[in-house]
Amino acid sequence: MNAPEQNIKSQSSAPHPVFGYRDFKLGQFEFRRDEYFAHIRWPKGSHTMDIGNFLRALMRDVAWGFFYGWVNFDDVFGTCNHYGTVDVFAGSYNGNYKKAKVDHLENHPTDLVRATFVDMLEDWVNEGFDPFAAPQETGSPYGRRRGENLKATRRARQLAKRCVGMKDDAKLRTDEGGYPVNRAFADVAQDQPEIHAELGFENEVHAFNLFAYLSRSDVTWNPSFTTVVKYSFMCPTTEEHILPIVHGNDRVEWFFQMCDEIHWNVGTKDTAEPRARVIMKAGDMAAMPADCRHQGFSPKRSMLLVWENGSPQVVHDIQAGLSPVNPVSF
Ligand code: PHB
Ligand code: FE
Repeated sequence: MNAPEQNIKSQSSAPHPVFGYRDFKLGQFEFRRDEYFAHIRWPKGSHTMDIGNFLRALMRDVAWGFFYGWVNFDDVFGTCNHYGTVDVFAGSYNGNYKKAKVDHLENHPTDLVRATFVDMLEDWVNEGFDPFAAPQETGSPYGRRRGENLKATRRARQLAKRCVGMKDDAKLRTDEGGYPVNRAFADVAQDQPEIHAELGFENEVHAFNLFAYLSRSDVTWNPSFTTVVKYSFMCPTTEEHILPIVHGNDRVEWFFQMCDEIHWNVGTKDTAEPRARVIMKAGDMAAMPADCRHQGFSPKRSMLLVWENGSPQVVHDIQAGLSPVNPVSF
């Protein structure tokens, strides 16, 4: 994932004489940053985004390998994952951009989009700004180029070999591992379950306190895989402020609100038109249908369990009408 290991090169300019940032080119798309904004140009149009919002979205697109389906940075710009190639688009899933015929979409090999986005991220993120951190827990994304934050932009997932906390495995999310309890979860109990394994099975049976584990998460809007059973992925995460992307589904996904609350704006995937508001409180479950886009707002750091269907086949089944767009019909 990191730029130095790649042999595919991104296209970029020399650093800007005043702002210090490089411009990037991907096909006919041009990307430029200044003190406050990311500017994107394509043959029939242009777009401007707040640089903090742009970098938070870019960080996730890179770290998640372009995710499932659509990663909309906002209602105009984004990517769509074809798992081997990636569409980069502007206005292609916005009803009015389509109507005005100023939309633009290019398909590129995943490696090229990754190389471009990784280099842009590393060049445009300043010292002290971590795009994965909640806004109150990191520095400012604004201003002229000053240093870099490779520790943040090259953050890789920590992998457990068996189950978190098992003997010989990573001591993830403990004081020992350097993960203090987050300020928003000071009231979350840190006790662990009692395990009474049969003799001889002490190294086979394990359990841990998921609430305690999540209370020590140092990032926001970054689901981790805690269980993988065939294609059923349980991905809990801690959320604060705004989900930096507007996710467009290519499959159904389920949300379980484990504590506090998140407000979701749900829209139509192809046109960005608003479709529903979903206010999820502790204990609520919801399913996001395969034809929607959604963005969450978490007023206080909260815990969310995202349940993903990781099947590579389900996307094709939905497109062929063999699998439903809505998981339940009432
Ligand atoms: C989602 O798009 O469904 C999503 C992404 C990241 C999160 C939570 C939900 O942290
Ligand atoms: Fe989603």
